[in-house]
Amino acid sequence: MDIASKTLTLPLLKKMSSTTFLFFLLINIAMAAAAATTLHTGFYSEACPKAELIVRDVMKKAMIREPRNGASVMRLQFHDCFVNGCDASLLLDDTPTMLGEKLSLPNINSLRSYEVVDEAKEALEKACPGAVSCADIIIMAARDAVVLSGGPNWEVKLGREDSLTAKQEDADNIMPSPRANATFLVDLFSKFNLSVKDLVALSGSHSIGQGRCFSIVFRLYNQSGSGRPDPAIEPKFRAKLKKLCPIGGDGNVTGDLDATTDVFDNKYFKDLVNGRGFLNSDQTLFTYSKTRKYVRLFSVAQGEFFQAFVDGMIRMGDLQSGRPGEIRRNCRVVNKPASGQSDWDFRTREVVIRAIGKTEEENGPNVIVDDGLLVVKLISICVLLGWILRRVQRLWSFLGNFILKALETTYRN
Ligand code: HEM
Repeated sequence: MDIASKTLTLPLLKKMSSTTFLFFLLINIAMAAAAATTLHTGFYSEACPKAELIVRDVMKKAMIREPRNGASVMRLQFHDCFVNGCDASLLLDDTPTMLGEKLSLPNINSLRSYEVVDEAKEALEKACPGAVSCADIIIMAARDAVVLSGGPNWEVKLGREDSLTAKQEDADNIMPSPRANATFLVDLFSKFNLSVKDLVALSGSHSIGQGRCFSIVFRLYNQSGSGRPDPAIEPKFRAKLKKLCPIGGDGNVTGDLDATTDVFDNKYFKDLVNGRGFLNSDQTLFTYSKTRKYVRLFSVAQGEFFQAFVDGMIRMGDLQSGRPGEIRRNCRVVNKPASGQSDWDFRTREVVIRAIGKTEEENGPNVIVDDGLLVVKLISICVLLGWILRRVQRLWSFLGNFILKALETTYRN
């Protein structure tokens, strides 16, 4: 190649590669934008105008049946949204090809009231089939739990889709332990774009509900391997907790997270100021200087706490993975093909999941499964085309032979 053509081709190549790069970048951005849904209030005003009323009604009944259902359902928002965004991945039951989040260490024997979400889903499916996602049900129900416990009300943004899969280790890797200290929690929340104020306000959710002895025995008897209790616990409260959770006792016995456990108020923060936090992750918010100022503020100004809590819940509800989703018909399982619909895709998908589902890496399980599905489809199309070509070829040679023979006989005659 001479210098002249080199000088022409190189910039052209460079230009082409940057154009190609830009092209792919744009496609990527468009795909990501298409996958991340825009959430807004009143999302179901046409498809299911009574959606919020239906969920509120189910929550009312569930909390009359057992007041703790409010706390347990509200907690689901935290455990759902932190693991790959608010996509109801948390609600999927395990299958032979998928170990979901329910049996992960932070969730097993701890998360509860899944059946309340099922009830809401059932009622919504009756009223408007296939319209309301399970991910949105969690968001609505969490807000309702707060309101029905005497806390603030707010408008929820809706329009989420439900995940197509879930992964146990994602929950294991992300959800914080009750042993976590404030420095760790500040860092963790910042990864989700949540501020120190958000962390303290959202921890105020422990104004309602209960925790197990399993979650606090270490701080009663052996804080940080010291062989001694956490010095931050007020002595009378410590004696009370020790009675509730003796060494070698039943780890599943529960205690109240604050002194007014069924009421959503700022008592939780007053308790922290007095060394009466139940969990280590709670009390540490008062020990650490960066978080202490918010604990103090919320302990004397309930209005400030309510406003910061609402802001935090909305911000946490905005977390999305951008992965493809669906509106599940049953919150515990991904959709199967509807009756009358071809189930080829569904079956092939199952085969692909079985073949490569266990090797899912950072790309995310759906991407790999969808790519696998695409490869299977392309191979099938190629096989079909090959088969058709072979038939055409045979027909062609048959016709050729036929014409030749016909000409031969005509000549002979
Ligand atoms: C800041 C980090 C957090 C940690 C380390 C944490 C940890 C815990 C633990 C260990 C329990 C008791 C579980 C058990 O013993 O079985 C619990 C309960 C609870 N958590 Fe959190 N949590 C955190 C943040 C949140 C957030 C942000 C929310 C909601 C917005 C939330 C809502 C709840 C509720 C309502 C309960 C009581 C549930 C019930 O009674 O069934 N937590 N949390």
